[in-house]
Amino acid sequence: MSTIPRDQWYVAAYGSEIRHELFARTICDEPILFWRTESGEVVANSDRCVHRRFPLSRAPSRLVDDKVVCGYHGFTYGSDGKCVAVPGQTRVPRTARLTPYPVVELDSLIWIWIGDPALADPTRIPRVPYLASPDFTTVRGMEPLQARFSLLVDNLLDLSHETYLHGGYIGTPEVASTPISTEVDDEAGIVYVSRHMDDAECPPFYSKSTGLQGRIARWQDIEYTPPCLYKLHSRIAPVGSVPNPDGTDPDAFHVEVVYAITPETEHSTHDFWMVARDFALDDEEVSAFLAENNRTVVLQDVEALDVLEQVIQGEPEGYQELSINIDTGGLAARRMLARMVGQAPRNAPAAPAR
Ligand code: FES
Ligand SMILES: [Fe+2]
Repeated sequence: MSTIPRDQWYVAAYGSEIRHELFARTICDEPILFWRTESGEVVANSDRCVHRRFPLSRAPSRLVDDKVVCGYHGFTYGSDGKCVAVPGQTRVPRTARLTPYPVVELDSLIWIWIGDPALADPTRIPRVPYLASPDFTTVRGMEPLQARFSLLVDNLLDLSHETYLHGGYIGTPEVASTPISTEVDDEAGIVYVSRHMDDAECPPFYSKSTGLQGRIARWQDIEYTPPCLYKLHSRIAPVGSVPNPDGTDPDAFHVEVVYAITPETEHSTHDFWMVARDFALDDEEVSAFLAENNRTVVLQDVEALDVLEQVIQGEPEGYQELSINIDTGGLAARRMLARMVGQAPRNAPAAPAR
């Protein structure tokens, strides 16, 4: 049985990736064809010709105005997926239609609905306004992960791994040694995990980008909206500094780390990562540093998770993991994801061992 939740919104691409040309990406095991129409709207249809299945993203298939012409025998489809021409006859079979997908472009992201289109409600898309705000500068990328998406969810909800896997980049001893607090909002469908380090070493990722030297206050507030959107509100400030009662926070640097966790198949994932900051907005050196550093960190995770996927695939059924306090957020996320696919969670006891 599939572990991928359906009837959900997923990030399919960055808006900047989709231009007036054919673009293919497999999302949740479904091969999908995208393009931006001449009027600027992003459309998505199944990437298989209804005639003999030739992928419409594959040359010599081509986009002509806002129609895609199959490169095998020339079936031609409009942006709504309807076939408008077939070779050798004037009558186009009524059932000749690609499967269209609901798509919404929001906050610089292309969201796609996987599941029953009648259930697609754009108001349920979680928002990330800073990604398209002039008050922030964002760097971003996407790494292919040869591992199931739930391994990336586990990874991102337990940041204690930063100390070990990302030492010298974003990890310091305090991340692993500071306890977390976890809250679950079942109604809104959000898992919150917070770790506030009031007196911590400043890792290179933040000392080089902010210029802060010495010890810092470092807050990590995670907000995960299963299945796809993960936000880490990272606050970096001089020791002792706290936000004002009105919410302003002039002494602090804010970094919004965002991941979109989109299953490609049951065993591979599109790992979209974004780092938005509210300081040094025009400093291209800071942008280049954060982009390169974050990509290095993401690749450290990718390497570890690719190994884990192989380990899991090679082991007999019934392996029992041991969970501890740091896993509370990850276990809550697993329970939510399991409910979305109508299953009992994998290896998820009600409470962690102490
Ligand atoms: S497979 Fe596309 S036209 Fe025949
Ligand atoms: Fe990591």
